[in-house]
Amino acid sequence: MKIISFANYKGGVGKTTSVVNTARVLAEKNKKVLVIDLDPQGNSTLTLSRSNPFEHEKTVGDLLSDKDLSIRDCLVETPCGVDLIPTNLHSYPLVSSLPANSAKRIYGLKNKLNDLQEDYDYVLVDCPPQIEGALITNAIAASDYYVLPIEGESVYALQGVDHLIQAIDLIREDSGSGIRLLGALVTMVDTRTKAGQMVMEAINRYFKDMVFKAVIRRNTTINKANLSNKCVCDLDPKSSGCADYRAFAQELVSRIDTEIKNK
Ligand SMILES: Nc1ncnc2c1ncn2[C@@H]1O[C@H](COP(=O)(O)OP(=O)(O)OP(=O)(O)O)[C@@H](O)[C@H]1O
Ligand SMILES: [Mg+2]
Repeated sequence: MKIISFANYKGGVGKTTSVVNTARVLAEKNKKVLVIDLDPQGNSTLTLSRSNPFEHEKTVGDLLSDKDLSIRDCLVETPCGVDLIPTNLHSYPLVSSLPANSAKRIYGLKNKLNDLQEDYDYVLVDCPPQIEGALITNAIAASDYYVLPIEGESVYALQGVDHLIQAIDLIREDSGSGIRLLGALVTMVDTRTKAGQMVMEAINRYFKDMVFKAVIRRNTTINKANLSNKCVCDLDPKSSGCADYRAFAQELVSRIDTEIKNK
């Protein structure tokens, strides 16, 4: 089982869209996939379960705050063929009120996931747009890898990336996590514009071979899919959004396989 966080402290860069659609495409390839929605906004909970995040009985907040709650009691099967640990806004006070020196603030998720080692091939974690706090710390402590989604059209895309990588490195050292950057995933790409080309060049210069070759083009079907709480391949399997997430999922799997071989 490999645990991969999708993290960027910036909002609206495509973390949730990437988690949900990558999970759906991996499931289509017969992989057993679990999505953990660590963002109290509950966006991946809504898309994957197609139900109101407040309707779920047990959430990430309950899981991280109640040491006796089994992770199996939080699992929800979804129409996309992946399992989900849902969340909603109630998770936020539950998690932020954990005592400062409590192990649950760091290792809660990691410890609970130990029970599922044999159950899943991939666990994808949708992180909140934050650089610190108990949720992101739990994600980093539990993960083998992180993917950094980055907006291909924004001239501010690279601003603060150094800070984010350093913050993750610090938590890795403090928590003894083995988390490593698997790559930067460029989303909402439009290389038809000069600005899009320049941002793409800057991202390639910065991340070099750590940029995934598969990029996610800007595609209105992705937006429509999100609006109707569907994965893009369910809404339109012929869309560029579906093709892009299929290509990305394939590259993700092969990068992980190469990492495992080289270890
Ligand atoms: N490739 C794309 N083409 C067009 N629209 C996209 C694409 N990827 C994401 N979007 C849209 O951009 C918006 C932000 O995407 P998303 O919610 O995945 O970002 P996020 O990083 O999870 O945001 P937050 O930090 O708020 O959780 C959404 O409205 C989504 O539909
Ligand atoms: Mg999100």
